[in-house]
Amino acid sequence: MTQHAPQTLTAAPRRAVVTGAAGFIGSHLAHALVQAGTVVVGVDRRAPATDRAAAANLAALQPLPTYLHVTADLLDCAIEPLLVDADVVFHLAGVPGVRPSWGPEFSEYVACNVLATHRVMDAARHMGVPRLVVASSSSVYGPTDGGASVETDRLQPASPYAVTKLAEEQLCLAHARHTRCPASVVALRYFTVYGPRQRPDMFTHRALEAALTGRPLRLYGDGHQRRDFTYVDDAVAATIAAAGAPATDEVINVGGGSNASLLEVINIAKSLTGREIRVRQENPRSGDVLTTRANPRRAHEVLGWQPQVGLHNGMRAQMQALTAESTAYGHAA
Ligand code: NAD
Ligand code: UGA
Repeated sequence: MTQHAPQTLTAAPRRAVVTGAAGFIGSHLAHALVQAGTVVVGVDRRAPATDRAAAANLAALQPLPTYLHVTADLLDCAIEPLLVDADVVFHLAGVPGVRPSWGPEFSEYVACNVLATHRVMDAARHMGVPRLVVASSSSVYGPTDGGASVETDRLQPASPYAVTKLAEEQLCLAHARHTRCPASVVALRYFTVYGPRQRPDMFTHRALEAALTGRPLRLYGDGHQRRDFTYVDDAVAATIAAAGAPATDEVINVGGGSNASLLEVINIAKSLTGREIRVRQENPRSGDVLTTRANPRRAHEVLGWQPQVGLHNGMRAQMQALTAESTAYGHAA
């Protein structure tokens, strides 16, 4: 975790299940919940014993007595026993990433983002879990005119990944409308989350890594594309607030605060490290949109949430974590 002042959170749940707990956002979420007094069952198919990224993500969590980690694949494991007595399921497990979804991995996207979600919702219904918070994505909006996206906007997902995330959030909402489903659903459309332990395929990580190692940074397009970068602690605060929000079946943007271009990210990485970055420009990639920008009004109204951490400070925390990690493993970041 970082040195930023934590947000004021609504009361944390008593007992929660976090799927995707060995991942980037899921591991931060599970840690914040445990620190707030929640008993957490974390589930992920990546085994910390054999997967170095999962082990690093779970390092601070696993020794904690109120954290129980289960290595299991949601596509075939028995989910119901994991949900016993849960006040909320935070469903973050899934296959992320826009660009690889055009390839043969698409079946994995469908399996993990759609079919596994169906199993999770079925189990939540059978076990009478009252709230499910699901990780959706800003990518469901597709291309925009550059203005802020409102939850009620027309959706035009531009990549196979985005289609699966739209299917995932709508599947959860369809389950919630089922007359025998006690779970209310809050679908959070996260906007490009960054911070310590960010997935290594993502741009902020790659820009900092390029600055720290001197290896070239591949820039897809001219760098003028913009993202509403969301610091991970802010995303986690919104997610915990969603567990207790007085909401019935909502879709909410989680983003804003730091709308910046990739060229601005490169400049921040240079100024934080005091090093140059060798940029290798390549063609834009299919499925990428020019701009994402969240209208944060619904998040403020329903969750009482607004982002606290600006891009410069958030990237500084990410850089410090990368540097500490490379020192611990004895290699360049
Ligand atoms: P991540 O890859 O770091 O974490 C996802 C985790 O889910 C992984 O550890 C993976 O092993 C696990 N998982 C996948 N399929 C599973 C299965 N069948 N059974 C059990 N575990 C499984 O990704 P992340 O960046 O932390 O993203 C978390 C969620 O948030 C994803 O659903 C993603 O689509 C969504 N999201 C992320 C961002 C972002 O900027 N990182 C933005 C919008 C939405
Ligand atoms: C990110 C996450 O990767 C998705 O999982 C998530 O669903 C999405 O945010 C979201 O907001 O919903 P993306 O915005 O594409 O997707 O974030 P990055 O992967 O960090 O890419 C940002 C931009 O940098 C893209 O235009 C991409 O083409 C570019 N990029 C990325 C590069 O130029 N070079 C790279 O090496 C990586």
